Amino acid sequence: MRSAKDFFAPLAVGAPTPLREVPVRPSRMIHFIDPGSERMAAKVPELVGAVDVLLGNLEDAVRGDRKEAARDGLVAIARATDFGRHTQLWTRVNALDSPWVLDDLTTLVAQVGDRLDVVMVPKVQGPEDIHYVDRLLAQLEARAGVPRPILVHAILETARGVANVEAIAGASPRMQGISLGPADLAADRRMKTTRVGGGHPGYLVREDPVGGDVMGPRATSQQDLWHYTIARMVDACAMHGILPYYGPFGDIADVVACEDQFRNAFLLGCVGAWTLHPSQIAIAKRVFSPSAEDVAHARRVKEAMGDGTGAVMLDGRMEDDASLKQCLVILELAERLSQNDAELAELYAVRPPTPDPRARA
Ligand code: GLV
Ligand code: MG
Repeated sequence: MRSAKDFFAPLAVGAPTPLREVPVRPSRMIHFIDPGSERMAAKVPELVGAVDVLLGNLEDAVRGDRKEAARDGLVAIARATDFGRHTQLWTRVNALDSPWVLDDLTTLVAQVGDRLDVVMVPKVQGPEDIHYVDRLLAQLEARAGVPRPILVHAILETARGVANVEAIAGASPRMQGISLGPADLAADRRMKTTRVGGGHPGYLVREDPVGGDVMGPRATSQQDLWHYTIARMVDACAMHGILPYYGPFGDIADVVACEDQFRNAFLLGCVGAWTLHPSQIAIAKRVFSPSAEDVAHARRVKEAMGDGTGAVMLDGRMEDDASLKQCLVILELAERLSQNDAELAELYAVRPPTPDPRARA
């Protein structure tokens, strides 16, 4: 067992000191690109300031014979781009049992370790996977002289990973967050879906029969296949002070269901989702920024609650310490997002942010 006192000690001589808190930077959309694609690489300057996180994907969706091109492309993008204050650079490396991951990590940390904010690790099975990456990153950071620790984000996409999610979330001070990976998770669990995230028309509840007529008309309602896993992931993340995310929504054309899935995740506690196509960026931005009405209501409750104790009636509803705490979550998020976004600051009537020339609406 590792002593609690050692938890925040670097895992290699010369590696940067682990952080005690996950840095609070907006990450409403983690926008995936294939860095080996010249077409996508050319679009990077437009994405800086427009997305909270730009992620160079090296894993699934990149063909085996394009893995090196993707890795080299990411190094080139990281070197050539000034990401400014508002956009973070992440990568998703290949799985720990793949032939590519060691070169992914050694190359990226050695060449652009000072520019990478977070490494997303797929198919994490348990805390032992995080421990492996933790030590390796520390060794590589020490060798490359990286000044601040690169954080780690796990994808929850195996049944064993779900069973171990609390231990994964607390495995290292490097842990930044966890994303649901519904496609791999469905396969690993032997679910009978054939989609990348979202619902399924067969997963439903049906009204009781009227007058015993089982064949008569009865309303049905599609249910959320991902509710249990997202809720469990949110609890594990909250318990360890790290951030939960919904992952991919593969039906790019179905912008309505994408928004619903993202909103369910937001309401349950997630802070962002993956965007696989530019059309999903605006959806994530809309969903993971609280509405102006919620912010205004939260402010009213805060004002009405005075010193924060007791209870008051507002519009016929009882507000107390607990509803105030929910309102403070909304207000804190609105304040934080407003620091990066003048339009949101105006919408929420928050003090305007310091301008960043790269920031786009
Ligand atoms: C994401 O990687 C997924 O498998 O859903
Ligand atoms: Mg996956």
